[in-house]
Amino acid sequence: MSKVSMNVHWQQTQVSRQEREKQNAHRSCIIWLTGLSGAGKSTLAQALDQYLFQHGMRSFVLDGDNVRHGLCGDLGFSNQDRVENIRRVGEVAKLFLDAGVVVIAAFISPFKQDRARVRALVAEKDFVEVYCQCPLEVCEQRDVKGLYKKARSGFIAEFTGLTSPYEAPESPEIVVNTGEHAIEECVNEIIDYLTRVGYVK
Ligand code: PPS
Repeated sequence: MSKVSMNVHWQQTQVSRQEREKQNAHRSCIIWLTGLSGAGKSTLAQALDQYLFQHGMRSFVLDGDNVRHGLCGDLGFSNQDRVENIRRVGEVAKLFLDAGVVVIAAFISPFKQDRARVRALVAEKDFVEVYCQCPLEVCEQRDVKGLYKKARSGFIAEFTGLTSPYEAPESPEIVVNTGEHAIEECVNEIIDYLTRVGYVK
């Protein structure tokens, strides 16, 4: 649980989020990709980022594997550490939101409560939850990083989907079927949604 530090005062920014959004000519938001390891979150995040960049928008990817090299390098994969991982990332995503950026966060984020906590940090319209739906069997068959094999052999404890739970979202803004559909198709589905709600012109 986070605590508010004593004797620390919020410093008001001189340039507002609205002014930054106006200069960028688009609104900022958090696009939160959740799903099993190997579901295609990172690939989708990169493809989406590329699309937005090529269309003149300011976007940035926060990715589980990358963030765990630095900011969350002290965390492992126990339930408690995953909760803290998502808490920190949520706070970083919120800062990006204030910076006028479209944040694409790609994290397993296995617990509903943690995703709900990030959603609650920002205005409802600022959080777009995308469930990257891919059956465990397909993720395991792909096993791009060889992690499922290691986990099955007992070399990785608390592996999501095998020995650690994954709670699928019940009412995400978007569900993309990364098990069957090509990445381009999934990007288009997200872009269609963002266009419909006015984030992309
Ligand atoms: S979490 O659950 O949201 O805190 O995880 P995240 O920060 O997204 O990190 C997931 C990546 O870490 C690698 N990895 C593991 N994943 C799940 N369980 C265990 N035990 C584990 N150990 C290492 C793995 O490469 C994940 O990346 P993705 O892209 O999801 O496959």
